[in-house]
Amino acid sequence: MNGESENRKVVLTCAQPTGKLHLGNYLGAVKNWVEMSEKYECYFGVVDMHAITIPYVPADLKKNVYECTAQYMACGLDPEKCNLFLQSSIVGHAELAWILGCICPLGQLERMTQYKDKASKHKENLNSGLLYYPVLMASDILIYNADVVPVGEDQKQHIELTRDLAQKFNSRYSDTFKIPEPYIPQAGARIMSLQTPTSKMSKSDPNQNGTLYITDDPAVLRKKIMSAVTDSDSEVRYDIENKAGVSNLMSIMSALSGKSFDDIETEFKGKGYGDFKKAVADVVVDALAPVREKFLEISADKKRIESALAKGNQAAQRRVNRLMSKVYRKVGFMRFE
Ligand code: TYM
Repeated sequence: MNGESENRKVVLTCAQPTGKLHLGNYLGAVKNWVEMSEKYECYFGVVDMHAITIPYVPADLKKNVYECTAQYMACGLDPEKCNLFLQSSIVGHAELAWILGCICPLGQLERMTQYKDKASKHKENLNSGLLYYPVLMASDILIYNADVVPVGEDQKQHIELTRDLAQKFNSRYSDTFKIPEPYIPQAGARIMSLQTPTSKMSKSDPNQNGTLYITDDPAVLRKKIMSAVTDSDSEVRYDIENKAGVSNLMSIMSALSGKSFDDIETEFKGKGYGDFKKAVADVVVDALAPVREKFLEISADKKRIESALAKGNQAAQRRVNRLMSKVYRKVGFMRFE
């Protein structure tokens, strides 16, 4: 059931349609969304408006929206149990972002870590959208009056800004927005690159052997895991500072199997990294092989993807309309119909 009941908590989160989802997106995000969609009223957005802040090809963006939605569904998001929507289809996200931008200090945006990071990578295309990105993200969240926002560790600062903006708006215009709580999973909130375990796993990593995609062939997954960077020691022990590679593999194993770090340390005591990596590969392949199969089936059926989005868009727009009427009234905008 994904009807809008008054007493169920509302969960909202989004991901950019950047093509293939990697294991970080899966463990830090989508896997938890599936669990939440069983209990709460959930809105999961494919945020194509965010994706145009960096150079892109329009035809690829469309393809990526289909692929991304198919991957969500393949991971277990059932359009009957949650609302999958496409950000640019919903009227209100950009409008609320403008209003929030007018109460957001410029300095706060300039201090955002992800902005500084992206700005240094896209010096030749430093558009204002990159700076304004967190305000649009705040709008994505507040416009659904979400109680909980499940995200990976890297989005924490953006959620803090969202909470600040909600509080500012509420104190300037009277109570309107709920102050959303982030939900950052204990295991899997920060999956690192297998090749450079000090940086997060990412699609834009120049060394693609460090990134495990959820649609990778099992043989490719195994190969990437077996060649993951570790250290010159041979002890399987969780120690981010000194054993970043091994700790990352332990996080992956723990998030997928539910085993604690202590359990994993005990299981691999006296065994080498080869055995450990093979066990990690088994867990990853077991978890992702069915996702890949399902993805191949769903992505071959465009209509199924379109009808999932059409249904989710409708529910999302209904919820957004209610909140935006309130916001327009409070800020002094008029509607003549
Ligand atoms: P995006 O598209 O980069 O990532 C989607 C989700 O995946 C999480 N994630 C990770 N978790 C663990 N380890 C990693 N290596 C890793 N990489 C990514 C992210 O934390 C995120 O939860 N700005 C957002 C999209 C967004 C959004 C929103 C999110 C737009 N509006 C409103 C929540 C609510 C982003 O770029 O995520």
